[in-house]
Amino acid sequence: MIYNNIQIITGNANPALARGICEYLQRPLSDGVCEKFPDTETNIKLNSDVRGSDVFIVQPTCAPVNEHLMELLLFCDTLRRSSAGRITTVVPYFGYARKDRKDEGRVPISAKLVANLMTKAGADRVVTIDLHAQQIQGFFDIPVDHLYGSKVQFSYYRQLNLPDLVVVSPDVGGMKMARAYSSALHALLAVVDKRRLSPDSAEVGFLIGDVEDKNVLLVDDLIATAGTLVEAAKLLKDKGALDIYVAATHPILCGPAIDRLTDAPIKQITVTDTVPLSQQAKEMGKIKVLSVVPLLGEAIRRIHKDESVSSLFIDTGEYQAV
Ligand code: R5P
Repeated sequence: MIYNNIQIITGNANPALARGICEYLQRPLSDGVCEKFPDTETNIKLNSDVRGSDVFIVQPTCAPVNEHLMELLLFCDTLRRSSAGRITTVVPYFGYARKDRKDEGRVPISAKLVANLMTKAGADRVVTIDLHAQQIQGFFDIPVDHLYGSKVQFSYYRQLNLPDLVVVSPDVGGMKMARAYSSALHALLAVVDKRRLSPDSAEVGFLIGDVEDKNVLLVDDLIATAGTLVEAAKLLKDKGALDIYVAATHPILCGPAIDRLTDAPIKQITVTDTVPLSQQAKEMGKIKVLSVVPLLGEAIRRIHKDESVSSLFIDTGEYQAV
């Protein structure tokens, strides 16, 4: 079904990304209010008519996660009650994704709850990038377009053309992503055996593979406290690695992350703009941001035109730095 005009709406999570998408689509950002009542409740108001429109809400659920999630849900509710034609939540970073199963007794499956909330609030469709676990798509009973941040990273590392490269996954869970990088970059593959000790610390055991006298690209879906990547980088240095690069999609960078990364034996970190980078992270000087604006902009254009989105998953070797 073809809906009326595209409208792009954003909350406070990543307005720069939303503006970039608007530029790509040559559409204005729809006007609205997304602020706080004096008692800290979220106040939403749309200032344009959305009746029959194909509306895309660009809102990663990054920190403060609950604030941004609530903004997203309230936008969905507002749009549903304002007779929008179709509501698509564009959630480039899907928070709560790491709690996707009952791995111990008496805990929630937070990712499933968030999926339920989004659908119940009125979302008809979801666009996202690098879910922590791909099977979270199945938590939704509405269409999910799952895009890959690696698409913008591949071409950057092709241009860098690092000799003797080994792609390393910092844990077994990341092997599928690491295999995609190693195949795209024609590099060898290795994996670190990681155990999580607490939410902000990880312990590495041994390395499967060889990195001696090789350059390394460590790949992950996200950097939170950076415990995983920094411990892996130290192990790789001990094993004789040359320069260590990191490619991660979502720069969450919370808690001790900046201090850890500053001191770590890592030469450069490439991330995407699914979530905004803090000033402190920018000042560290090790992080380069590659933009997912063309990826998301094109996905939105195709969804609106009822064209295939899956061809976007094919690697074309183009990237845009910001
Ligand atoms: C774990 O499975 C993820 O892919 C990341 O490696 C992890 O969540 C990163 O967390 P942190 O940076 O806090 O170690």
